[in-house]
Amino acid sequence: MAHENFLVELRGTTAVVQVNRPKALNALSTAVLTEFSALLDELHKNKTLRAVVLTGAGDKAFIAGADIAEMSAMSPVLALEFARKGQGVTQKIEGLGVPVIAAVNGYALGGGCEIALACDFILASTTAVFGQPEVCLGLITGFGGGVRLAEFVGWPRARELIYSGRRIKADEALRIGLVNRVVEPAQLLQTALAVADEIGANSPLAVKTVKAVMNKIRSEASVAARLDAEARAFSSVFSSFDQREGTKAFLEKRKAQFKGE
Ligand code: CAA
Repeated sequence: MAHENFLVELRGTTAVVQVNRPKALNALSTAVLTEFSALLDELHKNKTLRAVVLTGAGDKAFIAGADIAEMSAMSPVLALEFARKGQGVTQKIEGLGVPVIAAVNGYALGGGCEIALACDFILASTTAVFGQPEVCLGLITGFGGGVRLAEFVGWPRARELIYSGRRIKADEALRIGLVNRVVEPAQLLQTALAVADEIGANSPLAVKTVKAVMNKIRSEASVAARLDAEARAFSSVFSSFDQREGTKAFLEKRKAQFKGE
């Protein structure tokens, strides 16, 4: 199947999936999310796969977030649909019967960081930059960041990152446990493939079962309910001045003047 916004390559028993929308630093529009979702369904059907490596095309970004141009004109109703679409992708990543390794090769911001957080673990290049800058745009996390970031770094660090919108580099991400390993950019893909091969040498049934059970255990407190609460809160800010101002200011390349309403 041909992909418009993705490059997919099979390397042994690992699928290397690159988000490929360079003109917008691989930002996630509705069209990209729709294609992403269908691509995950395809991968789900492939019984020879043992792992997936997810990365961004180009050397600048993993995924620079959800598409701000699209969000700048969204109503609360559309924003709820959009959050659910993004969350659907994160849940398909978690539901895949093989581990998904995020190989973060640049900006992983907002929805991009949230996609990485839905992967089984994150490897990063020295050029990786992480952050949840939604509040800087008058928005909040919508693709599960408010649910999953704390699982990686703990609630206090997640709160600080989410409330401040501050970006952090790879070394800090490693220190706080957001990423498992940091390597030079040229080593990132081969490192991820080596880990994928290590996993691929094991019993596919055992890996699939343990992935599913770990997800089940961690979601006992109903991730679905938590995600639903987040999607609704995400949608609620789309009737605000600050959401319009924050996204518009980004597109006009100026500092936002927020009113708190
Ligand atoms: N959405 C849409 N377009 C984006 C984008 C995004 N998230 N991120 C970058 N782009 C576009 C830029 O508008 C620019 O387009 P033009 O060339 O047409 O002007 C192009 O990609 C290149 O970006 P920059 O010129 O800004 O590149 P830079 O190197 O100067 O800066 C950056 C890189 C720091 C990543 C900067 O692009 C940036 O801050 N991007 C936005 C990051 C962000 O705030 N992401 C979170 C979005 S909110 C979200 O994701 C909500 C959610 O949880 C669901």
